[in-house]
Amino acid sequence: MYEQVSHSLLNEILNKMDKNLCEQDLRYFFTRLGANFYAIHNLFQRLYGHRSDFNDQMFKLVETLTQKYLERPSELKTKDLQREDNHSWFLHQNWVGMALYTEGFAGSLKGVTKRVNYFDELGINLIHIMPILDCPEGKNDGGYAVRNFCKIDPKIGDFDDLDQLVKQLQKRDILLTLDVVVNHTSDTHRWARKAISGDKTYQDYYYIFPDRDIPDMFEATMPEIFPETAPGNFTWNEEMQQWVMTVFNDYQWDLNYSNPSVFIEMVDIILFWANKGADILRLDAVAFLWKKIGRTCQNEREAHLILQLLKDCCQVTAPGVLFIAEAIVAPVEIIKYFGEDAINARECEIAYNATYMALLWDAIATKNTKLLNRGIQSLPDKLERSTWLNYARCHDDIGLGFDDSDIRFVEYEPYAHRKFLLDYFSGKYEGSLSTGQLFGYNEKNQDARISGTMASLVGLEKAFELNNQKQIDKAIKRILLLHSFIMSFGGIPLLYYGDEVGTINDYSYQDDDAKASDNRWMHRPVLDWNKVDQRIRNSSVEQIIFDNLKQMIAVRKELSAFSDFNNREILDVSNEHMFAFIRMNLTTDERVLIIGNFDETPQHLDLNELRAKGFFQYGQVIDLFSNKSPAIFHEELVVPPLHFYWLAA
Ligand code: GLC
Repeated sequence: MYEQVSHSLLNEILNKMDKNLCEQDLRYFFTRLGANFYAIHNLFQRLYGHRSDFNDQMFKLVETLTQKYLERPSELKTKDLQREDNHSWFLHQNWVGMALYTEGFAGSLKGVTKRVNYFDELGINLIHIMPILDCPEGKNDGGYAVRNFCKIDPKIGDFDDLDQLVKQLQKRDILLTLDVVVNHTSDTHRWARKAISGDKTYQDYYYIFPDRDIPDMFEATMPEIFPETAPGNFTWNEEMQQWVMTVFNDYQWDLNYSNPSVFIEMVDIILFWANKGADILRLDAVAFLWKKIGRTCQNEREAHLILQLLKDCCQVTAPGVLFIAEAIVAPVEIIKYFGEDAINARECEIAYNATYMALLWDAIATKNTKLLNRGIQSLPDKLERSTWLNYARCHDDIGLGFDDSDIRFVEYEPYAHRKFLLDYFSGKYEGSLSTGQLFGYNEKNQDARISGTMASLVGLEKAFELNNQKQIDKAIKRILLLHSFIMSFGGIPLLYYGDEVGTINDYSYQDDDAKASDNRWMHRPVLDWNKVDQRIRNSSVEQIIFDNLKQMIAVRKELSAFSDFNNREILDVSNEHMFAFIRMNLTTDERVLIIGNFDETPQHLDLNELRAKGFFQYGQVIDLFSNKSPAIFHEELVVPPLHFYWLAA
């Protein structure tokens, strides 16, 4: 949009800019800058317009965008243009991801490069490598306490290794996702060290207070994220003799985004990684970006403005790069991280579907899908050009963040129901074979989350221990059932490394002082490649899980109805153990009925219910996953225990 005030400021900025810069080929850059400048100016003004150095800060921002564009490798600029042409490219059903820790997966970046065939073998074409940035030895929150945003952790490699990996991935059309920890730094980061040494400029990068007055006001309404290991949201710094805001661990200092310098530094860092070849950047803990006294300090309006601004800036320099919002918050809040534009995603194109993840686990524990059904039906529709990251497990705990009103709607009592789930997954509930553990237990409200690998949570670890083949089979079925639903829902399925071969909890973290107090490490395994190699041994647990997932991925890629264009209809089926939806391609008329039984006994569904939706009208149908026809008995579809179908119309 053309608007005089912002445009004349843009002219002023361009006139001030180094003449050499302007002689470079900046055609595409200027087109994008012109297109986005009104929005950038507007957002920057809403956040920082009250400051006397506003124009100087705007200048610095535009200079950063220009500099980073000049540094952007030409092959990435070409990719940007291709993606601009095909701007919905990431909504295609072709994409299937895997998240992994470099060290746990293959020791180092070089190790990951050596293993790229493994991704091809399974059908993975998007990898999320967990933080690779330099962080202090010992406690570093799994790499989320960053000491240097532009250096790779020497333990896992260097920039040459990353370049090699990027080349290999590009050759195979595998997308690379990297983390940018936008909310905080390690207390050993250069900015924090400067702040500690008394440098006022850097003290303003954080929230630092001489006494408890303001911290106490904040504490009155801020929840605690790690109540057991890092209670409260502020940490006393001996050297500085001041309080610092530390929402997560006491060594993770929250950045102060009310300071435009922090924002510009982060733009610079984001574009740095975009220029290193990341196709997607996972922005960590975005719900926490803005702090206000008297509030929970999550999901604040300004946090969204910051994300919009980051997106608008990134589009100018590296428009082919996507953002993932890591916002594990209430269902109605998550959706806002796509942006609040009327049509298109304006903040992050991708967001973790934490709601779906938690609801799937609910269905596993209860063997009942009423909360899953209700929860998904009350999830608002996404914007266009946005998509979910559908996952069942990741490196973090499982939070039971369902909406209380949904829990009540299906006639559970919220407190008792959550207590049941915690008991179930920690194996306390009678009959449960789950071997998860409670994470982040809060004594004040008995709130907790759950740790454990997928295999252990569905009972595989216990079944092995009991040497109980029946239970082993059931656990495998649950693993496949969960995957069948993340694969078909709409969005990018994100597998978690190790789950593809049924990796159980790893308790060795307890022997490491830096990890012992954080049981999320039980589900961050060092992959045992001997176990992975069992995938070629017929009828081994690894083979069954791996080959079925491989088949699911291959079938998914063939089904255009699985692309993500809000083309899903949830079915209100009469059987409470089943979850069912239809996926469709509106242009080709391809329709697939996804149906799964979460119970341990066979479940039935009147064919007339499905006929009304256009299935089973002309005799038998085919399960696209197995290529077989499902059992029909007495005019009813029979779904075996813990089984799923992907039925063609
Ligand atoms: C994100 C990460 C989590 C980390 C937290 C603080 O939620 O996924 O592992 O502990 O941010 O950085």
